[in-house]
Amino acid sequence: MPNLLLENVTYTYKNASRAAVSGISCRFEAGNVYAIVGPSGSGKSTLLSLLAGLDLPTEGKVVFDGDSLAALDLDRYRRESISMIFQSFHLFPLLTVMENVCFPMELCKVMPKDARLRAAALLEGVGITKEQMDRFPSKLSGGERQRVAIARSLASNAKIILGDEPTGNLDAANTQNIIEILCSLAHEKGYCVIIVTHDSEVAEAADVALRMRDGQFRTESL
Ligand SMILES: Nc1ncnc2c1ncn2[C@@H]1O[C@H](COP(=O)(O)OP(=O)(O)OP(=O)(O)O)[C@@H](O)[C@H]1O
Ligand SMILES: [Mg+2]
Repeated sequence: MPNLLLENVTYTYKNASRAAVSGISCRFEAGNVYAIVGPSGSGKSTLLSLLAGLDLPTEGKVVFDGDSLAALDLDRYRRESISMIFQSFHLFPLLTVMENVCFPMELCKVMPKDARLRAAALLEGVGITKEQMDRFPSKLSGGERQRVAIARSLASNAKIILGDEPTGNLDAANTQNIIEILCSLAHEKGYCVIIVTHDSEVAEAADVALRMRDGQFRTESL
C-alpha cells in the first residue's frame, strides 16, 4: 500500500523572496481521499509538484514507501507510482478515447490487444459507453472527458492519484460523479488520492481536508 510522507518540506522558487511551501510535515495514506484547499498563491500546486517528483524540496524530504524521492529514479517514480489528473484533462485530441487510454500501456509495452481489453474495462468502470470509446475527445462533454482522463490515469497501475482542480471545469452533477469515482478508488481499491480543489463539495467529500495558507497547513479544521 503506497504511503507518501512529507518531512519538514520547504520549497523556494529561484529568485523568490519567500518560500512557496514552508516547513510542511504530513503523512498521506493509502485508502484515503485528501483535499487540499486554500487561497490562490498559497502553495497548493507547488506542493502537488513536490509530491509528484516534478521538483525536489529545497529543504526536508518527500518519502515514498520508505525511500526519499531524492534517492529514487524520478522518471520511473512518476511513470510507475503517480497518476496526475488536471483541470484541462490533457487528452490527446487526435487520438480516440480508446487510443488515449491505451497510450500509457503501449509506452509500457503492453500488447495492443491486451491494452484494448484493459482500456475498455477501465472506461466502462467510469461510465463511458462502447460507442463513446471510438469518438475523439472533442466529441464528448467536459464531464465525460474528465472521466476518460481518470480512466487513462488508472491504466498505469500507479496507486497514487494527484489532481490539480480535477473538477474545475465541471458542473455539479459531473463533479459529484468524479467525487464518487475518486472515493471508490480510495476506499475500495486502496488508492491514495490527493486533490487540490476550490470546490467545497469536493473538500467535504474527502476523508481529510487540509487548508493551506502562505505555504503552510493551518491546523484548524475547515
Ligand atoms: N515557476 C514559479 N516561479 C516563481 N514563483 C512561482 C512559480 N510558480 C509559483 N510561484 C509562486 O509560488 C507561490 C505558490 O504558488 P502555487 O502555484 O503553488 O499556488 P496555488 O495555491 O496553487 O494557487 P492557485 O490556487 O492560484 O492555483 C505563489 O506566490 C506563486 O506566485
Ligand atoms: Mg494552483
